Amino acid sequence: MDYLKIIKCHGLKGDIKISGSKNASLPLIAMSILAKNSVKIQNVPNVKDITTLLKLLQNLGSSCTFTKNIATIDTTTLSHTKATYNIVKTMRASILVLGPLLARFGHCEVSLPGGCAIGQRPVDLHLKALELMGAKIHIKAGYIQAKAPNGLTGADIIFDKITVTGTANIVMAAAIANGVTTITNAALEPEIVQLCQILNNSGVNIKGIGTSQITIIGTNKKLLTIDTFAVIADRIEAGTYLCAGAITNSIITLKNIENRHLNSIVSKLEEMGCTFIKSDNSITLHPTNHLKPINIITQEYPAFPTDMQAQFLALATQANGTSIIEERLFENRFMHVSELQRMGADIHLNGHVATVNGKSRLSGTDVMATDLRASSALVLAALVASGETHIHRIYHLDRGYENLQNKLQIIGANIVRLKE
Ligand code: EPZ
Repeated sequence: MDYLKIIKCHGLKGDIKISGSKNASLPLIAMSILAKNSVKIQNVPNVKDITTLLKLLQNLGSSCTFTKNIATIDTTTLSHTKATYNIVKTMRASILVLGPLLARFGHCEVSLPGGCAIGQRPVDLHLKALELMGAKIHIKAGYIQAKAPNGLTGADIIFDKITVTGTANIVMAAAIANGVTTITNAALEPEIVQLCQILNNSGVNIKGIGTSQITIIGTNKKLLTIDTFAVIADRIEAGTYLCAGAITNSIITLKNIENRHLNSIVSKLEEMGCTFIKSDNSITLHPTNHLKPINIITQEYPAFPTDMQAQFLALATQANGTSIIEERLFENRFMHVSELQRMGADIHLNGHVATVNGKSRLSGTDVMATDLRASSALVLAALVASGETHIHRIYHLDRGYENLQNKLQIIGANIVRLKE
């Protein structure tokens, strides 16, 4: 296994090109199951979660190529519909094939994704919605066995909780269902907006895109012709690198971003004392050498994203005063805290609330990545910790950050990837 060796940096400088969004790419790749043509998707980040989902589609009989951030997926040869545990266990977003497979073939078996480091990650809302659309769902030996021999029927879905992949699954299932589906309490994330836009551009009549009430008029099993498109920028990758600039007191510019997707992140950094210059698809952070403490509550988009909580907790260790960070979406998303405490951070956990007393002098040491965003928080802390930090189990990072060490090296970070 590889690890990252990071030495305290004395300032970063320059531009970072932000990659396409992992969390937009995953449902868009699953959407190719609804196509009658080979689908070409540009600006797909070359990260593990993407190659895992492409491998899953290949295992089902599709043909997929992925070079220079372009994924080409031909599902016309897709011949079976069992997404097996060995793949699903490595990437729970594999659940995104459930809706499209069931809608197109009338049956499928998808391994229950199981939990992950940050929580139980149930899919009950996905299943309940599909049953309302006429699916017969049984759980057997850890698999979701779903049947809809006469196809899915439009229904009125009300999600008890806002679920991003749940919304994606039902939007895709409804796209070729028979009749009208309404989704109330739909997720508003930009990744869902793009999925709806691409489906709408492909002949599915969708109203309410970007709102919590979406109406989808299904094509009644008529497959779609999906033209080539490019994935939106990754707002979480962008937010992570903005935190790198803020924590190292550096002026950095991010290119190829969508500023409107960063509002809640930028506003928190402004509260901490940073300022910004924005253009169409770039943003320059001007740091402060006196970071103010911050209070954060993670909620669904457009509020502050849970996927940025770990990064801001690392940043808060360098703020002058006490920050309060509350995690409202996942039950176990503070795995980074113990590693940051080992580096010298003064953090107190009380249930879902972390109290961070800054400014702490962090010291480099060996630390262990535990999940995707916790790993990026450790990278941020390592950039300002004295001496040398080794971050182990960085396969977590590889799931969602494309070329992280190269992107940081280019702007001056002393970071190398080595073999254990
Ligand atoms: C998506 O996960 C993202 N993943 C996550 O990003 C992100 O943290 C999460 O949304 C919240 O924004 C992808 O898009 C691939 P949810 P998802 O369903 O869809 C509960 C990352 O770091 N819930 O919106 O799985 C659930 O327990 C990853 O890139 C149910 O109770 O999350 C949670 O408390 C991590 N029943 C809340 O809803 C369900 O059937 C939100 O979960 C579904 C969800």
